Order: sequence, then structure tokens, then C-alpha cells
Amino acid sequence: MCGIVGYIGKNQALPILLDGLKRLEYRGYDSAGVAVKTADGVFSAKAIGKIVELEKKIGEIKSPFPCPLVPRSGRRAPLLKRANTGIAHTRWATHGAPTEANAHPQTDCQGKIWLAHNGIIENYQELKTRLAAKGHKFISETDTEVIAHLLEDLYDGNLTATLIKVLKILKGTYGLAVLHRDEPNKLLAAKRGSPLVIGLADGEFIIASDAAAIIRHTKQVIYLNDGEIAEISDRDFKIFDADNNQVDKNVDQIEWDQAAAEKGGWPHFMLKEIFEQPESIANSLRGRFMAEAGRVKLGGLEGVAERIRQTNKIIIVGCGTARLAGLVGEYMMEEYAGVPTEVDYAHEFRYRKAVLDEQTALIAISQSGETADTLAAVQEAKEKGCLTLGVVNVVGSSIARETDAGVYSHSGPEIAVASTKAFTSQIAILVLFTVMFGRQRQMSLATGQRIINELIALPDKIRQVLALNDEIKRVAEKYYKFKNFAFLGRKYNHPIAFEGAIKLKEISYVHAEGFASGEMKHGPIALIDENFPSLVIAPLDSVYEKNYSSLQEIKARGGKVIAITTAGNGKIKAAADEVIYIPKTLEMLTPILVTVPLQLFAYQMAILNGRDVDKPRNLAKSVTVE
Ligand code: AGP
Ligand code: GLU
Repeated sequence: MCGIVGYIGKNQALPILLDGLKRLEYRGYDSAGVAVKTADGVFSAKAIGKIVELEKKIGEIKSPFPCPLVPRSGRRAPLLKRANTGIAHTRWATHGAPTEANAHPQTDCQGKIWLAHNGIIENYQELKTRLAAKGHKFISETDTEVIAHLLEDLYDGNLTATLIKVLKILKGTYGLAVLHRDEPNKLLAAKRGSPLVIGLADGEFIIASDAAAIIRHTKQVIYLNDGEIAEISDRDFKIFDADNNQVDKNVDQIEWDQAAAEKGGWPHFMLKEIFEQPESIANSLRGRFMAEAGRVKLGGLEGVAERIRQTNKIIIVGCGTARLAGLVGEYMMEEYAGVPTEVDYAHEFRYRKAVLDEQTALIAISQSGETADTLAAVQEAKEKGCLTLGVVNVVGSSIARETDAGVYSHSGPEIAVASTKAFTSQIAILVLFTVMFGRQRQMSLATGQRIINELIALPDKIRQVLALNDEIKRVAEKYYKFKNFAFLGRKYNHPIAFEGAIKLKEISYVHAEGFASGEMKHGPIALIDENFPSLVIAPLDSVYEKNYSSLQEIKARGGKVIAITTAGNGKIKAAADEVIYIPKTLEMLTPILVTVPLQLFAYQMAILNGRDVDKPRNLAKSVTVE
């Protein structure tokens, strides 16, 4: 989902900007561009497609001024190497097709003001009409271009003051990086609803949509809050709020290193992140429980512990895979904490007339912490006085800062578009939430201890499942030509049936549908024949016999079955076509172990179908538009 990089400092801007864009590629985009300020003007280049196309375009440009600007001096402009200020953008089109004209950076009539934008300007049409009536000439179909012309229209000689005025007029969301040809040594950044981070390095500053583009330069970062504007020179920076008051900001430390954000020898980020799950689960749990006391220690919730105690209803919201983690949490919370819990799509919750009050806790689950629909759901719940809690992976992200309190997943950077380690960490964090809520209520010490001890044992059990990768690849080789799959699960693994289906379809483009096992006989079983295989999740748990019946109903209609069950269950071998075994664990923790073979199955199916596993078509890593 698009990306911004900005640079100002002691080094040449262009190579740093291009490298930064490459580190944001995983977010998904359709076109890219740069604008670099030189002593005499602005050099800009844009291209449709991948960054490599932009690099080719830059290489082809002989004159340093391919933009509508004529150098002031008329002498041959200094080479780009002395240009130390610039902005760059990867676009995920919302208004106007992916074309060069629509690619960012966008500029004004005179080619003086250049800006890169993430987000959507909702009142762009009326602004565009008003500006065009005043003579402004637009060359793109984007909403973004309106910002450049509005800045030009209101420009009073100070870009910072002008930007503060313009931002008050804009409705919608933005992450912005802005420069002006005639204001030397100045780069502006502004944020409302789309993330922006400022990296503070030695004699240079890097702005970016996320830390992946900053980490190679520095770990010292500042996260802009909504409404804030940063004015940056090559020596220092100032942060202003929406009323032009200068504000002090904490400098945070990026918790992971650059290697963690790189493939490190793995063929794909997705496989790397699947295999990181023993460590990522261990990291999610580290220091967060007292096994002896059967209690958890969630520092991020300590300040609201009393409000949690008063909570009499929980609503869990998220999108896609994050919401499915919430569905697992619903079963846990009701069974082990006794708190009425419901789960909703964040994008539906916003429009419901949900019955909320101060004793309702809304738990927002999000890997990126920037999903616009989930952020909006949090804001809606806060309006109604709810306690809002976050389960978020990206530190300093919007949802993490919007919620009253929360717990970071600590899964480490998840680069592949398909969420894997973040998902299992979300479930692990929800187990910790369940123990916290439960131990404040009826959960016994013994139950708390049992859950925690099983959590501690999880990483090794995940390793045992990961060792099945070759076995799962063999199964995928038998099934990769099939065009439709059903995934069946019940109770705790009902959400995992849907997660297995979304994993398969989003990276292999093979149609897959999740079903609650019991639902098959009420219609969906009409789909089943020898060309429509099913993955049936049937661990030895409280509903095993029911799942076994569902499996037999499918077999009776000629459907092929790949069963996932608990090690030692020999009986199922006679019934299923393939069997994948997982280690024994608590029923509430089986979703974490069951998910791993489904992730591997989806991965192997995508490879066999020749897909771009880490960057599947049409998808973005973080959907920051509604
Ligand atoms: C995950 O595999 C999907 N790509 C997608 O559904 C994702 O879970 C969803 O967009 C929510 O993202 P978030 O966790 O960053 O909020
Ligand atoms: N809405 C802007 C456009 O369509 C920005 C999209 C993005 O976030 O990349 O150009």
C-alpha cells in the first residue's frame, strides 16, 4: 500500500531515495517517482511499474530538467550529485489509473512545489474545481495534485506556514513529504491517518512510511502523530502541531535490525516468516507471564487493569486475517474468562449501531497498525466511551497510538503481504488477554498455570510442525492443479478454516472457501465431488467425533480429504486421502499449531502455480485507504 521516502542531509539524495523505495516495495504499489532539489531547480522522474523501471527512466534522462521548469541561471545545472534534498513515492492508485502523469511526486503549475502523498483527499473534487476556476492547470487525475496547487495558490513565501494553512482545508487522510524549489535546505513532512516516521541519522534525516526504509541509516526515530508537521533541514528539525505550536517529541528506538527486514538467504519473505514462528511466538510471550502464579504481566494494560475488571462485554475488530485471530479469541474469552464477546469486521463495525458503553472493551487487532478501517473502528468506539485496546505489531503505528492501551505482538517485521507469524502471535497475545481477564474473574490458579505452561511449550511444538514442510510440499504436488478447495473447522478451528482459505487464495489465486464443518450439510456439500478437495481440521479435541463425521460425509460424496489431526490418531488414516499430524496441546492452542501446515500448504501451492508469493497481485501489505 504505497510508500513515501524523503531525504535531506550530507549525502546525495537520489540513491538513498531509490534504495528506500526498494525497501518499501513489499507494501505493494503500481508506479513510482522521485523529485530531487538541485541548486538551480528540481529534477523529477516517474515510471509505471517496478522501481527498476524508474531507475531506467532516470538513466535515460540526459537533461537534468525534464520537468516544466527552466533553470533560473540558464547555465548547465549542477549535477545531481550535489542535490541533497529529495522525495520519492511508490503509488497504490486510488484516484486515476497507474500512469506517469498520475505518479508522484506531483507538482504545481510552475514546477516549484513538489509533494508525495499517501492517503485520500476526500474533498479534492471541490478544491480542484475552485482552483481550476482560478486558472490552475491540472495534468493528473489524482486527488493528490490538488494539494500542490493549493499550496501554490496560498503560498506566502514560507512553505511551512502555508502547509499548515492548507492542511486545515483538506479532508481525508495524508502522509506527505513536500519541498519547494526556492526554499533551500528545507523538507516538510505531515501526517493524518497515513504513517510517517522520521529517521535521525548523523548529519542526515530520512522520512519514510515505515522503518524498513530507515533502519539501514539509523535506529533513532520519531513517529509523527496525526495533525503534526515536521520542518527538517540538514542539521535539525522542528515539529509543529496543527495550530503551529512547536512540540517536543520522544525519540524512539527501532527494535529490530536490518537483517530482520531482509530475506537472509530464504527464497521468499513468506517462508522466512513462517519458519520464524517458534521465535516470534517466544518473543510475543517473553516476560509477559508468571508461570508459578498462573498470571500474566502485560505492562501495556496495567494502566487500565481496573477498567478491564469492570468490563462486561468485549468486541474484537480487525480485517482479513487479523479478524480471524479475533474469532479464535472469542472462543477463548467466553470459555476461560466468561466475558460475553463478539467479533466484527472493522469495516462493518463502524456502520453498525452496536450497543456500546464504558463497560465495553473494544480490542483492535492489526499487524500494520495502519489499516484505515480498523483505525476508524477504534475512533468510533472511543466516541462511545469504550475502553479501546490494541493488539498491534508495528511499534508507534496509528492504531497503537489511538487505542487507550495495548500489547505489541513483537513478531518482528512482517514483510510478505500474506500474514503468517503476526497471525499466530495475535492468537498468542489473545491467550494472554484471556488469562488476564480470566484471572480477574473465575479462572483458577491451576488453569492459569496449565495455559501458561502449554504456551511455553508451543515454540518447540511449532518446530515439529515446520519439520513437515517436505511432506506438505509432496501433498501440494498432488493437488496444485485443482481449482477449488474447501477448508473445514469447528469451534476453535472454525476461524482457522477461514484463515487456511484466505492464505491459499491470496497467494496462489486458487479459489478456496472456509466453512464451519457443521455447515457443510446445510448446502455447501453440494459443491463436493472428486474435483473439489477439502482440508478438514480434526485435532483430537472436544469436537473430534463431529469433525470425523464431516470428513466421512465428504468422502461419501467422492470428495478427496486432506486431514489435519493430532499425532497418534491412526484411525483417521483409513478415512482421509492425506493426513498431516500436529503435536498434542490444549484445545485453545490448537489453532496456532493447525495454522502452520496450512501456511506451508498455501506457500507450496503458490510456488507450484508460479505466483509472486511475497507480493501477490492486487494486494497491499497495509490497506491504509477505506
Ligand atoms: C493477511 O494475510 C491479509 N493480507 C490481510 O487480510 C490482512 O490481514 C488485513 O489487511 C489486515 O491487515 P492488518 O493486520 O495490518 O490490520
Ligand atoms: N490518493 C493518491 C493517488 O491516488 C495517493 C495514493 C497512495 O496512497 O499511493 O495518487
